[in-house]
Amino acid sequence: MKKQNIMKLKLFLTGLEERLKENYLLFENLDITCTSGTKKFKGKGSPKDEGINFNFNGVTKILKPQEITDQLCDIAEQYDAVEIRYVERGTTIVIEGDHKNVKIKYEDKEIKEPLEKVTTSQIGNRDYLIKVGRANPLLKEIGILSKEGKVKNDMIRKYNQIDHFVELIEDLLKGLEDVEEINILDCGCGKSYLSFVLNYYLTEVLKKKCHFIGLDYSEGVIESSKKMAENLKYRNMSFFKEDIKNYIPDRDIHLVISLHACDTATDMALALGVRCNARAIVSVPCCQKEVLSQYQYEPLQPILKHGILKARMADVLTDGLRALLLEAKGYKVSVVEYISPLETPKNLLLRAEKVSYGNKQAMEQYQELKKVLKVNPTFEKLIY
Ligand SMILES: C[S@@+](CC[C@H](N)C(=O)[O-])C[C@H]1O[C@@H](n2cnc3c(N)ncnc32)[C@H](O)[C@@H]1O
Repeated sequence: MKKQNIMKLKLFLTGLEERLKENYLLFENLDITCTSGTKKFKGKGSPKDEGINFNFNGVTKILKPQEITDQLCDIAEQYDAVEIRYVERGTTIVIEGDHKNVKIKYEDKEIKEPLEKVTTSQIGNRDYLIKVGRANPLLKEIGILSKEGKVKNDMIRKYNQIDHFVELIEDLLKGLEDVEEINILDCGCGKSYLSFVLNYYLTEVLKKKCHFIGLDYSEGVIESSKKMAENLKYRNMSFFKEDIKNYIPDRDIHLVISLHACDTATDMALALGVRCNARAIVSVPCCQKEVLSQYQYEPLQPILKHGILKARMADVLTDGLRALLLEAKGYKVSVVEYISPLETPKNLLLRAEKVSYGNKQAMEQYQELKKVLKVNPTFEKLIY
């Protein structure tokens, strides 16, 4: 290639190199194809912890991201034409150069891959945020899709649930626009479906940098989450076998999520969010026993003598007290229906956004209610 065009190539590659340094955890691979006459010579780079494992013409070396421009220019100089394909999660950048010109183009995965028509009746006309077709690798890995790319009948509910979760917190995620890299803590992550889906949505749809931490005290689900992250090449995730109440984050946490964390594990998640001053906390509580075993309210005794009514009232009081204490700690809270109560009674979603240092009136109301109901919730005990 002409010297002048090598200079132009260098300019494009310098930009690419900056992107690679910035987004190293999103980098998937780099392919180079050089042409000399009718012959083609190929090379490939893939990410390793120690650097880029780069092979060209049978020679392998480990390159630091800042060495990539010089290395690729040195190679390109020796050929008539070059094509470099740089693949990052959700985006492909192609640089093509020859004696005449050097050009760069961006291929956005979201636009390139066609949407598959989903005909399953239960799926109906819902406009999914996590779309079959575009999100196939993710949906296959988490077991929503079959190998043939069809939504499994027994996974339609799960698919609806996770998609609806993203829909319900989309505004909240967009409200974190000013955060350079959103750190998200998934408490009682289980197999981490929700984190994988949010990771896909933030990284590949909203193009927002993020890091996920999954916590669960079950070793089995932590190992399986790690394996899934490896299969998906999602390198912006860490998983720890840890009790939520003992976890101390090593970085700022912007968003705490928990989906069906059993009983007081939800309180532990909320308290952790408050303790680390998270900008937002989103929780779908699970079954609860604590308030049910504690609360007493004489005027309602003629009604509460019916066990089922006492239990239902306890559910309302548990989530009501949680919402009020979040308000007292400076969050703006909304309690919304997550999914249809016909699917599961655990269908409330608490969505909290930090808006102030605290709300004295809400704290007084909370303390008063605690006295009236004779309860002592774990959430409050774990905040301090
Ligand atoms: C019902 S599962 C939900 C898993 C996942 N969030 C989901 O929705 O698919 C509840 C998870 O919380 C975990 N868990 C419960 N209490 C916990 C605690 N104190 N610390 C860490 N994990 C906990 C359990 O091991 C389990 O994996």
